[in-house]
Amino acid sequence: MSSRIILAILLSLSQAFAENGTPKNDSPGAKLFSVKCATCHGAKAAGDPKQQTPSLAALPEWYLTRQIGKFQKDIRGANPGDPDGLKMRAVAHTLKPEELKLLTAHIRKLPRVQSLFTLKGDVKKGRELFRENCMACHRYNATGELVFGSPPLTGLQDWYILKQLKKFKSGVRGDHEKDEEGRKMHSLAKTLTGEELLNIATFIPHLAKEHAKDRHKQ
Ligand code: HEC
Ligand code: HEC
Repeated sequence: MSSRIILAILLSLSQAFAENGTPKNDSPGAKLFSVKCATCHGAKAAGDPKQQTPSLAALPEWYLTRQIGKFQKDIRGANPGDPDGLKMRAVAHTLKPEELKLLTAHIRKLPRVQSLFTLKGDVKKGRELFRENCMACHRYNATGELVFGSPPLTGLQDWYILKQLKKFKSGVRGDHEKDEEGRKMHSLAKTLTGEELLNIATFIPHLAKEHAKDRHKQ
């Protein structure tokens, strides 16, 4: 085969990859995300343990808008014991309403991320605890429930879930008087031990994998 033919094959392969691999996305929301959010949350919004940022990909618009609104109104991320929340709050304060719309429309369409299994809790106990304590609000498959305002947990990393549960338990997140939804999590997490929270957080990515095809309401 001549080198010219090989080159032609390679070129067409790389073009096909560009089309079928990472979709080319130059919408205003995608551009804004890469400028304002990607450094901390990653280019595909998959989160980054080094930055302690959650995966945002596929989160529904209503939840994203509400959370960023909470950061903007100092209902979340204003507690001095919450350095990660404080970082996000600072970013949220720079966002204009029209930017928020573009960003949430972009993020919700990104493919959901499956968490790595980094925690070493008891999956079996976690499954039981989830059924008893969490399923009623977050649904049997953890895809969340719009009516209760409870978000999907399916795309979140296990370490982030555990960290948020501990924050809810201590009240660093969720004890603000205006945080109606957060308060529900605060009063529940207080009733569970650290070990129980570890078991549940270990289990949730297993549940997400079992229900990888289930979608949540936007
Ligand atoms: C300086 C780093 C940084 C940047 C830049 C940043 N974030 Fe964050 N973000 C964080 C951290 C850290 C958290 C976790 C806060 C916590 O632990 O409660 C977070 C949390 C969030 C949450 C809450 C997610 C959830 O599941 O409740 C949303 C939504 C969010 N960020 C959206 C954005 C968007 C949109 C942008 C771009 C405009 C952005 N972030 C830019 C650091 C950042
Ligand atoms: C009474 C309803 C209810 C129950 C029961 C409940 N949740 Fe929640 N959960 C919520 C609501 C509402 C929110 C949104 C809080 C907010 O707006 O900050 C939430 C938020 C969360 C978050 C934060 C997600 C994120 O993206 O930052 C995690 C993690 C979570 N719940 C896990 C659990 C686990 C694990 C259980 C069982 C131990 C549980 N929840 C039980 C209603 C509930």
